[in-house]
Order: sequence, then C-alpha cells, then structure tokens
Amino acid sequence: MIRDVGKACRGVPFPCMVPPKRVFDMNYKSVKGTKDLLPQDTAAWLHVESVIREVMELYRYGEIRTPVFEDTAVFARGIGEETDIVGKEMYTFLDKGGSSLTLRPEMTAPVIRAFIQHSMGEQGVLNKLYYIGPMFRQERPQAGRFRQFHQFGFECIGQQSPTCDAEIIMMAAEIYRRLGIQFTLKINSVGDPVCRPKYREALQEFLGGVHDQLSPESQRRAETNPMRVLDSKNENDRKLTADAPVILDYLTEECRSHFDQTLALLDGLGVAYEVDPRLVRGLDYYTMTAFEFVSTDLGSQDALGGGGRYDGLVDQLGGKATPAVGFAAGIERLLMVLEKNEYAFPTRGPLVYLVGMHDESRAWTFQQAVRLRSIGISVEMDYAGRSVKAQMREANRLQSRYVLIVGEEEMATSQAQVKDMREGTQESIAFEQLADYFSSRRQSQALEEQH
Ligand code: HAM
Repeated sequence: MIRDVGKACRGVPFPCMVPPKRVFDMNYKSVKGTKDLLPQDTAAWLHVESVIREVMELYRYGEIRTPVFEDTAVFARGIGEETDIVGKEMYTFLDKGGSSLTLRPEMTAPVIRAFIQHSMGEQGVLNKLYYIGPMFRQERPQAGRFRQFHQFGFECIGQQSPTCDAEIIMMAAEIYRRLGIQFTLKINSVGDPVCRPKYREALQEFLGGVHDQLSPESQRRAETNPMRVLDSKNENDRKLTADAPVILDYLTEECRSHFDQTLALLDGLGVAYEVDPRLVRGLDYYTMTAFEFVSTDLGSQDALGGGGRYDGLVDQLGGKATPAVGFAAGIERLLMVLEKNEYAFPTRGPLVYLVGMHDESRAWTFQQAVRLRSIGISVEMDYAGRSVKAQMREANRLQSRYVLIVGEEEMATSQAQVKDMREGTQESIAFEQLADYFSSRRQSQALEEQH
C-alpha cells in the first residue's frame, strides 16, 4: 500500500508528479473494483468467449480490437457530456505530453472512431464488427458492478434497415440461449432529432409541475437531459413521473414505422419482448430502437446488456452520416447468472498423465511428455518426485483420461502400462506405438465431445 500520496501532492498542479513517499507494508491488493482472474476462473471465461465467437462466426461478424485508451474527446463527443459516464465515471488523465486521454468506458465510440479513420464505410454496404475486452468506469463497486469490467458487443454499421436491429437482438438472444440464460427483453424507440424536440418540450412541461418534489439528481436532469428522469431509480421519482408523456406518442411516421417493422421481425422469430416506453439508455447517441436484456437472476444491477440504433454518431465523430445499430453486454454479469444456474462448464483434464516409478523412468516421462505435446497431445506429469500413489491421486484429481505408468520393468522391455481411467482397463503399449496410440485416442475424444 502507498500512503501519503494525497499529502505530497497538495498544492501541486494536476497531474501530480511528486514521487509519493513510499511506505510499503508489502500487502499489495488489486485495485478496488478490479479482479484477478485465476486459471480456475479463466476456464469459464474461455468457454463463454468461445460461445460468443461461434455465434459471431455464424452471423459473419469480424472482430475489431482498438486501443484501451482514446483521446477523451472521442467519448465526450460520442457518449455525451451530460451522461453519467462522461460526467462522473471516466478514468481520464493527462499524459506526459499534456494530451487528455481516457480509458475506454465502452466500445461503440472507439469502434466508430476506427470506422471513420480507416474509411471502412467505403469497403462495403455493411460493416459487421464485434469485440470482447476490458472497459473502465469509476462507479461505486457492488455486486455486478466493477471498475474494470469486460464487455462483448457487436456493431452493424451502414444500414437503417430494421432487419439490422432485429439481427443484433437475435445475436444477443442466441448467445444467451446457448448458455441457457433466461432474460426479459425490453424495447423502446427513443425517436430521432425530428421527434425528440417536441417530446422534450412536453416532458419538460410535465416535469416542471413536479419539479420541487423530484430528487436533486432528477431536478438537475430535468434541465440537462430530461429523458433520463424517467430512468431514475428513485421510487418517489418513479411515482411522480408515472403519468409523464412517453416518447412513443411523439414518434414521426418514419420512426414509428421503423419501430413497428422491428417488432414485427421479432414477432416473426417468436421472440418475446416487453415494450417499455420509459426505457432510455444512459448514453446520448441512441436514435430510434433502444433495448435492454434484463435478468431476474441478478440483483439491483439487473441489466445483462443493452444497445440500440445510433444513426447520428458517425456524423457526430466527424465521418459521413452513416446509420448503425449495436449491442454490448457485461461478461461478469453473464458469469454471475451462469454460476447461479450451476451451469456445467465443460471441464477437460489432460489426455494422459505420465507416472514414473524410479529416477530413470521419471527422466523418460519428461522426454515423452515433450514429444507427445509436440504432436498435439495434452500431457501432465509429476515434477516433485512424488510417490507412485501420489502421482495416481494427482492424475485422478486432474481427471486425466489415461495414465501411463513406467518403472524398471517397462524401461527394460520398452513397453508402457496404459490405464484407461474411465473404463478401468489397462494394456501394455510399446514405446514406439505411444504417439499413434494417443493420437487416435485424442481423435475419438474430440468426436465424443462433438456429440
Ligand atoms: P451500457 O448499457 O453502458 O451500454 O453497457 C452495456 C453492459 O455492460 C451493461 O448492460 C452491463 O451488463 C455492462 N456494464 C456496464 N457497466 C458495468 C460495470 N461498471 N460493471 C460491470 N458491468 C457493467 C454500452 O456500453 C453501449 N456501448 C452498448 C451499445 C453498443 N450500444 C450500441 N452498441
């Protein structure tokens, strides 16, 4: 732990370059709101990521990876100065050259920045991109809310067709279906710059009538971002705004028709949804469709993921006006639901565990392990000089499918004992046959797993 940082920096212009007085108690911990993922955790992550990538492959989305930090303006302009994310939650810092940089709190703005920078719009009528990676928001940590968290998401850039909106929703639904996650899909249309001013006026007039009774946060929002008042978590605010006008009554013909067509496509696919006229998302770029996947298996942070259409963002970030729609979801929250559901993550031990019974056979197992691994066989062995019994116990614990045992006799005859741990059978295999033997066992295991 480093103490006295604050004191040393008092009166020094930001960013403070005074080296902190270091008082270490050698008890370093990961920063509040961040988590280490250990091998027993990453197995679940890798599985979830493989499901996401499989679905992306089916829908023909290509992966995009952008830097974890961007010029602050990308987010300030993209997400909106008045949003909680930009106003309160960003990790923003000046680098040594004096540039204001921000750790990405989300990926839509960076993806659009990259889309413009690389003239991706010229490469086809549609750009279908997905991402998986860490995001950063300085929120109060709680269950399901972290300061470094991970999102997967996808953006479909180039068309205003409701098919794109429905497809994005279906991709999210497909990932949740494959993982057995139940959800409620809430959907709304937040209109466009044509319908919104009229609605904003009507809403502000309504809010003016209850202004004094609203929470201080909603009073402020009533001026700056009135639609977010409908999104307030404060019970009293919700009661006061129960009869507030809703955007759906103010949609232009075009927005209404886009919304109806999107819903009709979802109906055609048998997807259940709830039209929630109060759904406003916490980012300013949305136009028309806005939606959220919520789970009753999560606590107060019940949003599995959310997204919508953002037809003005490319233009706003300096590109040629291009319609787009997308979605992003938190991976930690998804894993929380899987854990609650006691989801059976596929576990796979090594194909074979090599047991050496004496010094010479132990040396041989190491040579053999390297050889087998080089032809794609996953192998584990003992590195601690443990007894045969302890090695067998370890092979069991690791759920190794086969155990290969060599001792003095086996070394003398160049024959290993191979035990099939599932069938309980044992056979003698010549050393020169081992590579073929395990290659064919690996193929049968891969076939079994496919079925
Ligand atoms: P968002 O609603 O801000 O949307 O975030 C999407 C999801 O990220 C949330 O529903 C939640 O699951 C997860 N999430 C957000 N903040 C945290 C946190 N502090 N800790 C853990 N999980 C969190 C966006 O980010 C938009 N870019 C979505 C989008 C893509 N819209 C169009 N395209």
